Amino acid sequence: MKSPNFINFWYACFLFSIAFFLIPILIISVARISPPSSPYTTAADECPLGRVYSYNLPSIFNHDLLLRNCSDLHPFNWQCGIFPNHGFGHPATELRRIMPENIRKSWFRTNQFALELLFHRRILRHRCRTRRPESATAFYIPFYAGLAVGKHLWTNDTVERDRLCDQMIRWLKTQKQWKKYNGSDHFTAIGRITWDFRRLADPDGNWGSAFLNMPEMEHVTRFIIEKAPWDNRDVGVPYPTGFHPQTGQTLKSWQQYVREYNRSSLFTFVGAPRPNTGGDFRGLLLSYCSNETASCRAIDCAAANCASDYTVILESFLGSEFCLQPAGDSSTRRSVFDCMVAGSVPVFFWNTTAYDQYEWFLPGEPESYSVYVNHEEVRNRSYVIEQVLMRYSKEEIREKREKVIETIPKIIYGGRGLIDFKDAIDIALDGVLHRIKTEREG
Ligand SMILES: *[C@@H]1O[C@H](CO)[C@@H](O)[C@H](O)[C@H]1NC(C)=O
Ligand SMILES: *[C@@H]1O[C@H](CO)[C@@H](O)[C@H](O)[C@H]1NC(C)=O
Ligand SMILES: *[C@@H]1O[C@H](CO)[C@@H](O)[C@H](O)[C@H]1NC(C)=O
Ligand SMILES: *[C@@H]1O[C@H](CO)[C@@H](O)[C@H](O)[C@H]1NC(C)=O
Ligand SMILES: *[C@@H]1O[C@H](CO)[C@@H](O)[C@H](O)[C@H]1NC(C)=O
Ligand SMILES: *[C@@H]1O[C@H](CO)[C@@H](O)[C@H](O)[C@H]1NC(C)=O
Ligand SMILES: *[C@@H]1O[C@H](CO)[C@@H](O)[C@H](O)[C@H]1NC(C)=O
Repeated sequence: MKSPNFINFWYACFLFSIAFFLIPILIISVARISPPSSPYTTAADECPLGRVYSYNLPSIFNHDLLLRNCSDLHPFNWQCGIFPNHGFGHPATELRRIMPENIRKSWFRTNQFALELLFHRRILRHRCRTRRPESATAFYIPFYAGLAVGKHLWTNDTVERDRLCDQMIRWLKTQKQWKKYNGSDHFTAIGRITWDFRRLADPDGNWGSAFLNMPEMEHVTRFIIEKAPWDNRDVGVPYPTGFHPQTGQTLKSWQQYVREYNRSSLFTFVGAPRPNTGGDFRGLLLSYCSNETASCRAIDCAAANCASDYTVILESFLGSEFCLQPAGDSSTRRSVFDCMVAGSVPVFFWNTTAYDQYEWFLPGEPESYSVYVNHEEVRNRSYVIEQVLMRYSKEEIREKREKVIETIPKIIYGGRGLIDFKDAIDIALDGVLHRIKTEREG
């Protein structure tokens, strides 16, 4: 009789320990691994720099602008194709010819001015977004300033150019969160270059809207595709390219594809001459590149249709070790990013084209990923370009290309919704949250 009692005793101890130790431990660990029950209660350590609140602006400041048609947006129809797929544009099906279908699905005919739409969509679905303004560190103003001014840039009607900006500022000033820090914890994204919004500082006093001259905008951070060098509230962000991968896996496949591509030309130039501008540098490069048939691949966009067929551009960048990136109508070009996404090493002729623009996104050491040739030297003797490029060994070129490939995620706008790698928007958001925190503490 002794032994059954003895067993019962230990059995009771066993049950006791389960009840008092194991069950609570189980409950605690299940609670830990289960996802937050509501989107408003993101764990604080997931967003250590704070969260972002997106204003619910009246739709005249964003969505209504999308109801317009091409000629409503721009008299020369450059902005056609900006709207489909929330700013991604139509799928670039033409690329089937040059890349595997699993990667091709991440490529779109994205318009270079689509930034405002891309930002808006990503912020709304960002894991650090909060719907409660009182728990936010940063405030996003989803105003489509570039789309608002587009059509009116080529008319004389300055009142019309400023109309929506004025209304939007008036609306903003009624908001409680705006008044607290006078806008210094606010940011917006602008899809056109900064010179389209600084009419009052324009030497001719005529170009653009006055949006960025408005005193209320003074403290607001603006993510913009080309910044004013002296204004630290302008933060240069990459022009949108057509590559929008959804997963880190697709991104890796693309990086490997680019790394292994057979680059049969030393360099390439893709662009159109500007015959009406004095000292046409693009025209000079095009002429020079066309003459150097053995080493340069020339794509004249005045003849080829670079805007509607991505294959032409991408094939030249993929097939060349280097790409020439002059300044054009302004200091910057979308082509810089098309080139780098394709793993080609950019050659710059002005520091304002990239080094002084995109500090948050490009590597700090220019020579680690690019080549600099002074434009004045090229004007005198364009063959200096080939001389400079020939000096690099295969190994040196490979190292620069690795740096370019490593930079790709930072200069692209990822797929819809949540993505599992850090892209340009994550870097922008981290940066602005960090800026607000330091200014608050400093
Ligand atoms: C498209 O633009 C043209 C020219 O501005 C305009 O006449 C027309 O009404 C617009 N159509 C729509 C559907 O908005
Ligand atoms: C703008 O104004 C100038 C002179 O004031 C005039 O010559 C020109 O035609 C106008 N342009 C447009 C697009 O209205
Ligand atoms: C807010 O900024 C505006 C524009 O710079 C300035 O005129 C105003 O004095 C500022 N107000 C406060 C409370 O800082
Ligand atoms: C790379 O391209 C060149 C020129 O088109 C060709 O001669 C060479 O065979 C190619 N190499 C590979 C590995 O495909
Ligand atoms: C290219 O060749 C043409 C014809 O020989 C010549 O006129 C032109 O100056 C050359 N371009 C450059 C940039 O050297
Ligand atoms: C432009 O950038 C190059 C490369 O970093 C540098 O060597 C040069 O000093 C810069 N020039 C100016 C005017 O800043
Ligand atoms: C270019 O040529 C002009 C006149 O021939 C000369 O004055 C200038 O110093 C040259 N510039 C460079 C950078 O070589």
